[in-house]
Amino acid sequence: MAEPREHPVKLELPTMPVQELIKSTVDHIPERYIFHPTNDKDHESDVPFMDSPSIDLQLILDSSSPEAQHELRKLRSVLCSWGCFQVVNHGIGSPEMDKLRALAKEFFGLDVEEKQKHSRTSDWFEGYGSDTVAEGEPFNWNDRLHLQIYPLHRRNLKFWPENPPTFRETLDEYAVKMKTLLENLLKGIAKSLDVDENSFLSQFGDEGIMFSRFNYYPPCSSPNRVFGLKPHSDVTMITILLQDEEVEGLQVLKDDQWFKVPIVHDALFINVGDQLEIMSNGIVKSVVHKVEIDKKRDRISVAIASVPPPDEEIGPITDLIHSEGAQLYKNVTNYMALFLQHIARGERAINAVKL
Ligand code: OGA
Ligand code: NI
Repeated sequence: MAEPREHPVKLELPTMPVQELIKSTVDHIPERYIFHPTNDKDHESDVPFMDSPSIDLQLILDSSSPEAQHELRKLRSVLCSWGCFQVVNHGIGSPEMDKLRALAKEFFGLDVEEKQKHSRTSDWFEGYGSDTVAEGEPFNWNDRLHLQIYPLHRRNLKFWPENPPTFRETLDEYAVKMKTLLENLLKGIAKSLDVDENSFLSQFGDEGIMFSRFNYYPPCSSPNRVFGLKPHSDVTMITILLQDEEVEGLQVLKDDQWFKVPIVHDALFINVGDQLEIMSNGIVKSVVHKVEIDKKRDRISVAIASVPPPDEEIGPITDLIHSEGAQLYKNVTNYMALFLQHIARGERAINAVKL
């Protein structure tokens, strides 16, 4: 088992967004972005599609419906095998999804000077820019904008773009819907595991944090040499992903094999993150996933993350320890801090909290 790190790793940031880099370098890929494969599964060519059934959230929420039990069993099964699923009838209309995608496109389409009014710094994750990585680790082929959306007092408006002029209002509308959806999903997931429906939601509480991550993946002339996002699991309880409507790229790992995540019209893609795996005592799996880059086309996505309050201890819920016989994960406070140290090196933090 990995030992807790005594010395924080030195974190580095690229000097410019990838979107700008490709304007100046054309076909040459700077060494720092090149990923040297450690095994031949890293960039396979014939990757099959994930073929698990979509989950109908409406059926799950209406417990009087005869189909609810069937849908709950389906949900439990995908959570335990894949750790991710497509959700339909989730309460967000197609026009709202299109509006957010359009907003993301418009924002990333702005001049770099405009976007950099909201730049991140190396010591805080919010804002426009790139992910930090540990010294010497490859950079992701990705530009992103991170913003805390809940609780309200955590919104740092200096990072919230004022251009496009509708940005703040549109994200706020989407955030309201995402909060309800998160609550419904966490209740549905709890029900599917036969525990009190508030089991997970109560660990998220009123001070649980939601943040949005707008992703922009520029095209790359040698897509097999870079990663949009390197293989990782999320720090979240769950992540709610709005995918690009045309360009695929996301892949998930199951039983040591990669699968492409299809674009399912009107669906949102949900993946379990490390903190729900911990709370469920390992019953649901925090899925490892990565983003592959397209040779010609750019891709956007918007992920909504949920993490428990950093100053509160989280851990496996009692009912799941008892029914499984043993506590398999430690209780932990501020898992996000532990996670950031590990991910910068391409390592998984969850191994450090396994008992
Ligand atoms: C993420 C992520 C996937 C995607 O933001 O953590 O995995 O398709 N995104 O952009
Ligand atoms: Ni992710």
